[in-house]
Amino acid sequence: VAVEPFDLIVFGGTGDLAYRKLFPSLFRRDHDSQLTDPSRIIGVSRRDMDAKEFKASVKHALETFVPKEELEKKAVSRFLDRIDYVAVDALTDEGWDELKSRIADGLDRVRAFYLATSPDLFDAITHQLSKHGLLTPKSRVVLEKPLGHDLASAQEINSAVADVLPESQIYRIDHYLGKETVQNLMALRFANVLFEPVWDSAHVDHVQITVAEKVGVEARAGYYDHSGALRDMVQNHILQLLCLVAMEPPSAMQADALRDEKLKVLRALKPIDEGNIRTLTVRGQYRAGAIDGKSVPAYADELEDKGPSSTETFVALKAEVRTWRWAGVPFYLRTGKRLPSRVSEIVIQFKPVPLSIFGSAGGFLAPNRLVIRLQPDEGVKLFLMIKDPGPGGLRFREVPLNLSFADTFKGPNPDAYERLLMDVIRGNQALFMRRDEVEAAWVWADPILEAWSRMGQEPAGYTAGTWGPSAAVALIERDGFTWHEDPA
Ligand code: BG6
Repeated sequence: VAVEPFDLIVFGGTGDLAYRKLFPSLFRRDHDSQLTDPSRIIGVSRRDMDAKEFKASVKHALETFVPKEELEKKAVSRFLDRIDYVAVDALTDEGWDELKSRIADGLDRVRAFYLATSPDLFDAITHQLSKHGLLTPKSRVVLEKPLGHDLASAQEINSAVADVLPESQIYRIDHYLGKETVQNLMALRFANVLFEPVWDSAHVDHVQITVAEKVGVEARAGYYDHSGALRDMVQNHILQLLCLVAMEPPSAMQADALRDEKLKVLRALKPIDEGNIRTLTVRGQYRAGAIDGKSVPAYADELEDKGPSSTETFVALKAEVRTWRWAGVPFYLRTGKRLPSRVSEIVIQFKPVPLSIFGSAGGFLAPNRLVIRLQPDEGVKLFLMIKDPGPGGLRFREVPLNLSFADTFKGPNPDAYERLLMDVIRGNQALFMRRDEVEAAWVWADPILEAWSRMGQEPAGYTAGTWGPSAAVALIERDGFTWHEDPA
């Protein structure tokens, strides 16, 4: 469905995110006829260049990041016609009047300001927008992560933005919420009757959430070394996944109803602090190793001034949601860079059957497991025990009911940003984080960071291309479980 005409102003318009994700996503939506005329996309940065040069750079980005077969000439030129550029300095008054006059004829359109810049500039940019009269009732401000470095800095950003705009006009991005399979998690839970009755501590043994990456920090070392895996991945993406697994059914698929339920989960997370940090968390940092047979350097050697560093590139945690539904059910979370494969998945492991009527004859009855694979090969698998066919008596085997998205739904899989950008234009905040959610996530994460630092818990080394430090295996095996590995 086409969206109403808009002006999208991208701050950080010459940055990596804009070129790699935002422009390709907008191009795809345009190609799909979702953008209506006279919608415009205006790149903004400090860099002194004209619209022609900027268009050329956007064209180059499309050629780099969009598959060739999608780059129809007519579609590319129509998209480039929408593009404009204004040089603006967030910290001075330079360029703001020019930006204002460039979009003055679009007062009645949706006006979205996408802040794909460092969060240090969020305060300055939003105040400049206000000061120069650029905010209209149909304006929206989109904030990219990271939303702060800790609770205090997140509150500072949120308060600064709240000075000039109401919450209903603020869109905080967590791109994981735009992923197809993440939204499917809600469909699975709330559009089917099968799972909800067993979705609780009486039936679920434990939950695992893994977000593993093969990439290292490479060019982003400057940012990453001040962040680390807990801030970069857990405080936002992984906690959002946990919320969608653990929340109560919202009363409606409506932004605040959904966000109220997620907030309750975040507030119910058992605190991790100096008292339990060593038993509930594992930090790791990759050493030199090999990924897909190619040797890769150690984290410390990727830093500009060549380590040593005590930033974690891997973290494993045992979390708990202290609600009636979930009390006592461990949620094992892990994420890391330079792991053997790129895989994100959520595993719900159910309790074993109360008694095996087959005695020892059938062998071990593996508990049922529901595996929701977010990437790379999106799908849902439900592992069941099935009788091995044949006359040789009862023998059981674990076999998945397997829903592969690629096989079931042909056609391209939209990028998370395509969905989220269109939601901004439509004014749908359901897949964006509310202020209190972000802050509640920091309330949980801050004491972990503090305890690591106060207890001097340095990251344990792991060889690049392995599943993190051995302590991460011990974290779950101590409880009698193992990290899920797809047997198929
Ligand atoms: C970003 C993190 O938010 O998410 C990156 O800053 C990480 O470090 C990325 O690589 C992972 O996103 P995706 O969509 O590739 O899983």
